[in-house]
This record gives sequence, C-alpha cells and structure tokens, in this order.
Amino acid sequence: MAKKIAVLVSGGGTNLQALIDAQNRGEIVGGSITAVIASSPDAYALERAAKAGIPGFVLARRDFPSARAMTVALVEKLRSLEIDLVVMAGFMVIVTEELCQAYRNAILNIHPALIPSFCGRGAYGLHVHEQALAYGVKVTGATVHFVTEEPDAGPVVLQKAVEVREGDTPEVLQRRVMEQAEWKLLPRAVSLFCQDRLQVEGRIVHILP
Ligand code: GAR
Repeated sequence: MAKKIAVLVSGGGTNLQALIDAQNRGEIVGGSITAVIASSPDAYALERAAKAGIPGFVLARRDFPSARAMTVALVEKLRSLEIDLVVMAGFMVIVTEELCQAYRNAILNIHPALIPSFCGRGAYGLHVHEQALAYGVKVTGATVHFVTEEPDAGPVVLQKAVEVREGDTPEVLQRRVMEQAEWKLLPRAVSLFCQDRLQVEGRIVHILP
C-alpha cells in the first residue's frame, strides 16, 4: 500500500512544487501526496496544491490559544487523514512534542544549511543565508533530517553542499541552495522513506540499498 504523505507549508511552496513535480515524474516510489496543510490561508503553496488536485487545509497558529493546542489539532488532522509521513517543506511554525510523539521517525524537514551549522531557533528562511554570509563560509547547502523535539537536531537523512560565491546576497544564495540542493534532496528523501529504505539507529540514518 502506498504511504500517505502530508506536506506542511507556510509560504511560497517551491519545495512542495518539487515534490509534486517528482511525483508526476514517478519519482516518489511507494508514496502519494494526499494532503497539504498550511499555517496561513495566504500561503501560495495552497494554490500549487489546488492546481495539482491535492486537498489543502489551513491550521493557523492565531486560531489557537497556544502552540500546544495547535499541535494537538494538527495531530488529529493527520490521524484523521491516515497520514504515514509528514513532510515539513518551509513550515515556519514551532510545534510541541505531541507531533514528534505521534510520528516518531516519520517527520522529515528540509533545512537550508549544512546542519549543525546555521540552524536552531531563529534560523529559518532567508535568515539562514544571512547568517552563512555574515560568517563568511565558502560552502553551505541543505539538509533533510528527521524531526525530533529539539529544533533542527534530529537524525540527518541527506545533505548536499553548495558553494558560496563572491558578491552573493541572501536572496541569490537562497535560490542557488534551493535549485542545487533542496529541490533534489527532499523528493529523494521522501521516496527513500516511502520505500522503507531509511533505518534510524540513534543519530545515524542508514540508507538501505
Ligand atoms: C526553504 O528554503 C526551506 O528550506 C526553508 O524555508 C524555505 C521555504 O521555501 N525552511 C526553513 O528555514 C526551516 N527551518 P518554499 O516555501 O519555497 O519551499
């Protein structure tokens, strides 16, 4: 049975688009994107979902009294949709431990840096690339990891390096990291998960042949 995938989004949704495109090319083996859940009704990602015929839902933080209440509602939604894999693709909301407990080793997140660099609280979106440029690193990249209770600290699944060039702005670097790393890594990691080829042993993720 194909695994049911829910993609959580907050903004533009280019990583969601990469997943949809990969699915249309038959590259998500053993899985199917069955829901897109946005943290805002204005997320452009919802339009991408609609265009692809994927049901979209909104769970806005401001509609709940606390992050915990929002997380509990999210888990209920995922359970009611019988979701097997949760993918955070530019999901900018900090969730509480109820989600990790409900979906242990079944939540993937894409982060636009080589973890453990430029990650954790405050490191999201364009800020990550601002931090990399301010530090002066010559190489950055992207990481797909399993989500645990600690932000950006779960077991690493895939990483890809991307060079930083003289004169880069955060926007230019962000685009290069997306094109060269994120849009390739996330579909690949999702497909590996759906084929049961990711085996987690402590911090180490083994990729089975
Ligand atoms: C992506 O670069 C993603 O890696 C990042 O936000 C962007 C979302 O773009 N995620 C984080 O920073 C999570 N900490 P998208 O909506 O176009 O996919």
